[in-house]
Amino acid sequence: MPSLKFCMFFLVLYRVCFVICLTSAADPIYVRHVCPNTTTFNRNSSHQSNLNFLLSSLVSNATRSNGFSTGFYNVTAGQDPDKVYALFLCRGDVTPTTCQDCVNFATSDILQRCPVQKESIIWYEQCLLRYSDASIFSALDSNDYIFVLSNSNNVTEQVRFDQLVRTTLKEAANEAVNSPKKFSTREANFTTVQTLYCIVQCTPDLSNFDCNSCLQQSFVSLPTARAGGRVLFPSCYSRFELYPFYNDTVTAAPPPTPVLSSPPPKDSYSRNEVIRCIHIGLLCVQEEPADRPTMATGVLMLNSYSVSLLTPQQPAFYIGSRREACNSMPTKELEFDQSKSKSMPLSVDDASITEVYPR
Ligand SMILES: *[C@@H]1O[C@H](CO)[C@@H](O)[C@H](O)[C@H]1NC(C)=O
Ligand SMILES: *[C@@H]1O[C@H](CO)[C@@H](O)[C@H](O)[C@H]1NC(C)=O
Ligand SMILES: *[C@@H]1O[C@H](CO)[C@@H](O)[C@H](O)[C@H]1NC(C)=O
Ligand SMILES: *[C@@H]1O[C@H](CO)[C@@H](O)[C@H](O)[C@H]1NC(C)=O
Ligand SMILES: *[C@@H]1O[C@H](CO)[C@@H](O)[C@H](O)[C@H]1NC(C)=O
Ligand SMILES: *[C@@H]1O[C@H](CO)[C@@H](O)[C@H](O)[C@H]1NC(C)=O
Ligand SMILES: *[C@@H]1O[C@H](CO)[C@@H](O)[C@H](O)[C@H]1NC(C)=O
Repeated sequence: MPSLKFCMFFLVLYRVCFVICLTSAADPIYVRHVCPNTTTFNRNSSHQSNLNFLLSSLVSNATRSNGFSTGFYNVTAGQDPDKVYALFLCRGDVTPTTCQDCVNFATSDILQRCPVQKESIIWYEQCLLRYSDASIFSALDSNDYIFVLSNSNNVTEQVRFDQLVRTTLKEAANEAVNSPKKFSTREANFTTVQTLYCIVQCTPDLSNFDCNSCLQQSFVSLPTARAGGRVLFPSCYSRFELYPFYNDTVTAAPPPTPVLSSPPPKDSYSRNEVIRCIHIGLLCVQEEPADRPTMATGVLMLNSYSVSLLTPQQPAFYIGSRREACNSMPTKELEFDQSKSKSMPLSVDDASITEVYPR
């Protein structure tokens, strides 16, 4: 049996990487954006100055609340026809600091991507930002834009997995709809070593009824034949994965740091034990989070030779900036996106990325 202390080192490396990638103050991870160029404004117009004012007040108010729970903010500026409506929504579990960083980044990023569009939405892992020349507050929007993203990995036991995902998301939705934040997470055991993680959230300006309709509509398009996926609407989203992708509090309770100073990180190892241990370590630092064993799986692998080990893929660690390393995480998954608009049926061709058209 390899020394648990020695092997924990690799698991801790993995854990640290995970924590950094999900919770660092690095730039938020871009997911998608949409801004139809059918309605545009002139630069230096009053529309432009209203928009600039709104975006800056969203940033300065990002940690406050205006009648809704924190992590959501809506503002308006100007008079018709140049009136602008804007809002942001942070993922329900992120800290106020992460939320503010995300909103701050989003307000400048969106103007790079959508310099003259009157209507724009951008989604990151940590927040979404949206503005329009028409009122978007307290209005259910689950028709105009939809993005369906799916994990590239297929899942075993598809029927049971589909049922578990739907049951778990439904429970999460029931809780979210009736909460002020309109947010909930739920976990469920899929197999002894695989945990299902689910999240749902609506913008909290929606009524309970509209939040529920939005989430139910999102469930219709969920790619449950895959090991993970999400459906993004302007007013709500739902997502499931077989790895933990939310919960800022991970930072608050990192695993104990192993004592590396005590010389054996008396113990004697067989060659096979050491190789097995390094093998597990490499599995833990693979680029694709879904491929990495969970902490529980890692411990199981260490304690049992009956668990056969897969060949590790390229690790996520490389010499480069932390941001690059972290941003590389979701990219692979996003290669398999699908998207559609109300004018287009949902494509079943995973490789295709269809354009989203305006209303
Ligand atoms: C607007 O977007 C469409 C689709 O992306 C593109 O074909 C068209 O050239 C764009 N028009 C302008 C004026 O940028
Ligand atoms: C906008 O205003 C700035 C400063 O007043 C000026 O330099 C710039 O040329 C203007 N741009 C347009 C497109 O009018
Ligand atoms: C938000 O920020 C702006 C600009 O800093 C400030 O003037 C305003 O009072 C804040 N609150 C609201 C509701 O906009
Ligand atoms: C934010 O949205 C709510 C609900 O629609 C609305 O009552 C409120 O006036 C909005 N706030 C601003 C600053 O427009
Ligand atoms: C994240 O997990 C911690 C404990 O593991 C829990 O206290 C917290 O409520 C969770 N947060 C969310 C948003 O689920
Ligand atoms: C997943 O399943 C589909 C359809 O059964 C198949 O075409 C695809 O190659 C599979 N992908 C992987 C990564 O196994
Ligand atoms: C998953 O299984 C473990 C141990 O079997 C149990 O302690 C835990 O409560 C289960 N989690 C859920 C969400 O059912």
